[in-house]
Amino acid sequence: MVIKMNLYLRKAVLEDCDLLFNWANDKIVRQNSFNQKGILYENHVKWFNKMMNFDRCSIFILCSKNVSLGQVRIEIENKTAVISYSIDKKYRGKHLAIEMLNLLEKNVGNSKVDVNKLVGYVKLDNYISQRVFEKLKYNAKIHDNFYEYYKLL
Ligand SMILES: CC(C)(COP(=O)(O)OP(=O)(O)OC[C@H]1O[C@@H](n2cnc3c(N)ncnc32)[C@H](O)[C@@H]1OP(=O)(O)O)[C@@H](O)C(=O)NCCC(=O)NCCS
Repeated sequence: MVIKMNLYLRKAVLEDCDLLFNWANDKIVRQNSFNQKGILYENHVKWFNKMMNFDRCSIFILCSKNVSLGQVRIEIENKTAVISYSIDKKYRGKHLAIEMLNLLEKNVGNSKVDVNKLVGYVKLDNYISQRVFEKLKYNAKIHDNFYEYYKLL
């Protein structure tokens, strides 16, 4: 049972490599990604090590009592942090994504990183993610085949 009061974000560590690989290869996560192809383990390991050493990328794990529930990653360019996120399929539908992005916003706001905008790109058929950003009062801009959700900090 997940206790929502104890939710917190921790920075990903090298030991999270396999956990993040499993989450990235989840069927729905792939369907909702702009690159739908399955991910090869060796490519994931290379990508993960690069991201962990990239000062404009941060990966956070949402936890409750040491249980890892989901992940959110930001990649920063020109003061804009682009968000990618998912919740473990066992824990979806419990408003954890909303809680996780709320914690992310506080974390970015309280940190020294030079970011003034959060952005999420969402496919037109990903209604759940659209709902998440709408509930968090992001602004929506429609493009040909995706929504751009953004919030100025
Ligand atoms: C998108 C995702 C992170 C949402 O996580 P979640 O914790 O299950 O979402 P929440 O529980 O916070 O729900 C958000 C809203 O969607 C609704 N919702 C959640 N699951 C739903 C479902 N299966 N059917 C209909 N509505 C649903 C919730 O009720 C909530 O709306 P409400 O507050 O009006 O009730 C999760 O579905 C996921 O990991 N998907 C695959 C990866 C992905 O799509 N990432 C986003 C890429 S842009």
